[in-house]
Amino acid sequence: MPGERGQLDEAVRRLRNGEPIGFPTETVYGLGAPAFDAGAVRLVFEMKGRPANNPLIVHVSDEAMARRAVSDWPESAERLSGAFWPGPLSIIVPRAPALPPEVTAGGETVCVRCPAHPVALALIEALDEPLVGPSANRSGHVSPTTPDHVRAEFPGLFVLDGGPCRIGIESTVVRVGDERVEVLRRGAVAPGQIEGVLGRPVEVSQVTITPGAISSSPGLLERHYAPRTPTVLVEVGDLPRVTGEARTSVVLAQEPGETASRSVGAWIRMPRDAESYAASLYDALRRADSMRMDRIVVVRPHGTGDAALWAAIEDRLRRASAPDHP
Ligand code: TXA
Ligand code: MG
Repeated sequence: MPGERGQLDEAVRRLRNGEPIGFPTETVYGLGAPAFDAGAVRLVFEMKGRPANNPLIVHVSDEAMARRAVSDWPESAERLSGAFWPGPLSIIVPRAPALPPEVTAGGETVCVRCPAHPVALALIEALDEPLVGPSANRSGHVSPTTPDHVRAEFPGLFVLDGGPCRIGIESTVVRVGDERVEVLRRGAVAPGQIEGVLGRPVEVSQVTITPGAISSSPGLLERHYAPRTPTVLVEVGDLPRVTGEARTSVVLAQEPGETASRSVGAWIRMPRDAESYAASLYDALRRADSMRMDRIVVVRPHGTGDAALWAAIEDRLRRASAPDHP
């Protein structure tokens, strides 16, 4: 049973022991460790193979707990947490001095978020401490949206089961400064919703970074959320040409079957609406990856529903299909 009490106690016991575990959120599964346990936080970096310059998100069960991890909680943060928490919005504010420097990658800011998932909230409340939680995948790889995905990334890891993730792509990351409000990563909370709450214009940063370069948000590397199989993003009109090339492809498309090419080894049918597309995207990419074809071809989706969510999906598809060596 997802979130069973015995499982929860076991999860808390392991965390108190300094052992990272997998835990569910409404977006993707996280690799959790107590944020104030520097040794456990270092283990998280090691397990993920994550560059030390890429800061972690700190998960809290409410605003009061967020205040333990920060040194300033500006009115804008107060308003955003009031409007969107628990929910898929991560807010960057000045960090508490007591937070281990590893968490923020040595930086002066910390990213906090309160997940809208009953099992995650129960876990953090039972631990009674903030929890770091990068997505529970090896650095650069596709984020996990089921317990099986997490176990495939980290065999033997204890995973608290919360079922499949409802949203399926990572939270919106927003930085609130005195001068400007910036969305650093698109997600289910739209820039327009943030503008509505703050009554201020919001910038959406098109961060594209070369690995190794210094950046303000190193998780936004150009190639990210990527399968191991070379992946291309194409327009539906290009499908005959692309699949006509002499390689075997698995094609992710909303309307499969349009092209009868011998090089198409498999089709994965994708939903038409944004919510269902986001919720199934990473599972589809992982299934495609496991087929071990020469290439994954994703047909650029067009569909109904939330335009901002489509923009977040487009962002992930672009990163999944970015060349290995930009
Ligand atoms: O939905 C999510 O946010 C998931 C679930 C597990 O909560 N977590 C997640 O964490 O996606 P992660 O570590 O995979 O992505 C965190 C992103 C990275 O792009 C990182 O660079 C950025 O947030 N980030 C974290 N702290 C930051 C900071 N202080 N300043 C700028 N960017 C920051
Ligand atoms: Mg990640």
